[in-house]
Amino acid sequence: MKNETWQGWTEAEIASFQGIFLNWYHQEKRNLPWRANTNPYNIWISEIMLQQTRVDTVIAYFYRFMEEFPTIKDLAEADEQKLLKVWEGLGYYSRARNLKVAAQQIMEDFDGEFPETPDEISTLKGIGPYTTGAISSISFGLPEPAIDGNIQRVVSRLFEIDADITKASSRKIFDAATRTILSPEQPGEMNQAFMDLGSSICTPTSPKCELCPIQNFCLAYKNDRQTEFPVKSKKIKPKDVYYLAGAIENSKEEFLLMQRPETGLLAKMWQFPLQEISKEEYEEFQKTWQKEDNDQLTLDLVAEDLSPRIFDEWPVVWQKRHFGEIRHVFSHLRWHVLLFYGRATKNFTVENSRWATQEQFEHFVFPKPQQKLVEQFNKNQKVDKHF
Ligand code: ADE
Ligand code: SF4
Repeated sequence: MKNETWQGWTEAEIASFQGIFLNWYHQEKRNLPWRANTNPYNIWISEIMLQQTRVDTVIAYFYRFMEEFPTIKDLAEADEQKLLKVWEGLGYYSRARNLKVAAQQIMEDFDGEFPETPDEISTLKGIGPYTTGAISSISFGLPEPAIDGNIQRVVSRLFEIDADITKASSRKIFDAATRTILSPEQPGEMNQAFMDLGSSICTPTSPKCELCPIQNFCLAYKNDRQTEFPVKSKKIKPKDVYYLAGAIENSKEEFLLMQRPETGLLAKMWQFPLQEISKEEYEEFQKTWQKEDNDQLTLDLVAEDLSPRIFDEWPVVWQKRHFGEIRHVFSHLRWHVLLFYGRATKNFTVENSRWATQEQFEHFVFPKPQQKLVEQFNKNQKVDKHF
C-alpha cells in the first residue's frame, strides 16, 4: 500500500495545492441552485438528491422541492403521498421518506434548528458520513471531508491509493488522505472543487488530465497510471426478476391500479397489477404470446381460455398478444415486465386497489417501471388494442 505517499507532501506543497485548486474552483465552478447560499436545509436536500442522481436531473427537482417544502417544519409535516409525488422519478424513494423522518428529528431533538456538529448531524435518519461531511463543510465551514465516489476517484489517483473502494474499511484511508490536503479555511469549497473536478475532468474512463488544475500534484498522472485507480472489486450483478403486468380496463375506461405494501421496495406506490413468474414461464409467454404481423390481427386473438394465467381469479378477458416489455434496474434487482391488456367483464374490486382513468393517473405516485409501462401501453394501444 502506498498510503505513505501523501504524508510526503511538505507544508508548502499542501498550501500550493490548496491555492491552485481553490483558484480553479472559484473560476470554473458550476452555477447550481444549491450553491446560491449555504443554508444547511438547502445543502442537505441537494446532497441527498445528488447521491444517486445526476446534477442535470436534480436541478428541477430541487426547485420544486424547495417550493413545496420551503422549511424544515414544512418537511416534517409533509403529507407522505405529496412528498413522494415531488420525488417521483428520482428513484430510491427511501431517501424521501428518510428526509421527512430526519426533519421530524430536527423539530423534536434540536428545537427545529439544524444541528451544527458532525456528531449531531450524523444522528439524523438517512445522513451517513458523506452527507455529514458535505453539510459540515459547506454550511458550517468545518474541515470535514465528504467522501463519495468522485473524491475517491480523484484522491486515489492523486496519491495512487490502491485500497479497494468497495470495502468499508477503505473509508478511513481516504478520510485520512483527504484531511491532510483539505483547506481549513475553505473546506466546503474544496469538497465541491473535488466534486466538480471528478464530474468534468477526472472522469472514470478517460480523465482529461491536460485540463486538470492539479496535474502537477498527481502521482497517477506522473506515472501514467490514471485508469488503474480507483481500485474496485467487481460489482455483484443485480438479480433478475420476472413479472407479468396487467393493464386492465373496465367499461368506464378506468384502469386497475394497485398500491404496493407499506414497507419494502417502492412502498405504497401505485402500479398495474404485477405477478411474479419464473424466468422459464416468462420466456414461454414471450414466445406464446408473441406479436404477429399486423395484417393478421383479428379478434380471434382474444379469448378467455387464452388468459395468460395471470390474476385468473379475476373476471378479465386478456388480449392474446402482449403489449411489449419493459426493463428496469434497481440497485440490486433487474425487473423484466411483460405487459398484457385485459378487459374487465364485470365490476370488481380487489384489496389495496383503485380504478382510475388515465387523466387521473397524475394523482398517483408511480415508480419508474410503472411510468414505463404506461408509456409502453400508450405507444401500443393505438396499433394493438383490439377490443
Ligand atoms: N455532487 C454531490 N454533491 C454535489 C454538489 N454540492 N455540487 C455538485 N455536484 C455534487
Ligand atoms: Fe485526475 Fe488526471 Fe487530474 Fe490526476 S491529472 S487528478 S488523473 S484528471
